[in-house]
Amino acid sequence: MSNNILIINGPNLNLLGEREQSQYGTITFAQLKKNCLEKSKELNINLNFSQSNIEGEIVNIIQDARKKFDGIIINAAGFTHTSVAIRDALNIFKKPIIEIHLSNIYKREDFRKKSLISDIATGGIFGIGSNGYILAIIAMQELLKNGNR
Ligand code: DQA
Repeated sequence: MSNNILIINGPNLNLLGEREQSQYGTITFAQLKKNCLEKSKELNINLNFSQSNIEGEIVNIIQDARKKFDGIIINAAGFTHTSVAIRDALNIFKKPIIEIHLSNIYKREDFRKKSLISDIATGGIFGIGSNGYILAIIAMQELLKNGNR
């Protein structure tokens, strides 16, 4: 079975634990990464957990993922609402994509209610904090097992 999964985190997620705890909780980025790697190991998934504050770098990561990964889980953070370039790169990745957000973006400011990624993703998870990442890993494994896009 193909089980190479890439998690991409966008800008400011490296400051989890320090930024807006009321929205994102107290978990640190390092702890989130550890939890995801532990879950992946348990499920026999080969996980790469990445983060960048730079839009073009995320585009490069997505382009490079085409040959190396079977699925992408992405929290594009602020770029979710603005980046046509990240959307376009994801659209070229013809394999499963799960969009994830720690917070419920539909319960917040109007500018967060629009995601440029949702309609090209396979599915999404939002509003349940860091556990959403664990659910996304489990969901991605199921998608890959069933051969879904
Ligand atoms: C976020 C929501 C975005 O609106 C915000 O810009 C983030 C984090 C989330 O995980 O809830 O940086 O993607």
